[in-house]
Amino acid sequence: MERLQKIIAERGFCSRRKAEEYILQGLVWVNGKKVKELGTKVSEKDEIIINHTLLEGKEKKEYYLFYKPSKVISSVKDEKQRKTVVDFIPTKKRIYPIGRLDYDTTGLLLLTNDGELSHYLTHPKNNIEKVYVAKINGILTPQEIQTLKKGIEVEKRMIFPTKIKQKITSSSHAMVTIGITEGRNHIVKKIFAQMGYRVLTLKRESYAFLTLDGLKVGEYRPLTFKEVKKLYAQKNCFK
Ligand code: URA
Repeated sequence: MERLQKIIAERGFCSRRKAEEYILQGLVWVNGKKVKELGTKVSEKDEIIINHTLLEGKEKKEYYLFYKPSKVISSVKDEKQRKTVVDFIPTKKRIYPIGRLDYDTTGLLLLTNDGELSHYLTHPKNNIEKVYVAKINGILTPQEIQTLKKGIEVEKRMIFPTKIKQKITSSSHAMVTIGITEGRNHIVKKIFAQMGYRVLTLKRESYAFLTLDGLKVGEYRPLTFKEVKKLYAQKNCFK
């Protein structure tokens, strides 16, 4: 027997937190009975219906590392019919991206139908390093680099970059490599905006120990069993 919200998340229907919301809203039925208690235990055999949708049985998990191109949406569907990241991966499984990259951001994005892994990796307290390369419309002064290294406040929360490296590419532009452990939307652009710079291009080069090695833009590869195991071990990095 497992907690209802855990089973819902494990089967990839949604995150555990969202499942808790559905339960509290009275949208979850187990064997024909509405369940509103979060601690309810269920077994693999129980029939679970969420918001009129039957929860399917345990499905095989799939994990992909994708080199996202620009002008692609990091979601499963887009109401404006634009291309989404799942369009690039031919699978019958209901995979979705772990976190998001902006429409114009390129780089490493993980996709899976494993709700539990997705939940761990996107937990606000996670401590997983993501490294980005940002082309900015200016050149950081040595003082600004120091400020960034010491930590910068964005929207009332401190960010402590794990690395900062600048390569000056012209008299008015630089490429800045920045490592961060948090996952707020548009966070890299917000960091540079706070310092008075605009991000002209942005690429995510790595996610934890994973890199884009061997992939071209628009290509993907399945993660190995070892890599998935190692990603699961990252949850021990919670602060
Ligand atoms: N930070 C951003 O500003 N954009 C992204 O796509 C990812 C991180």
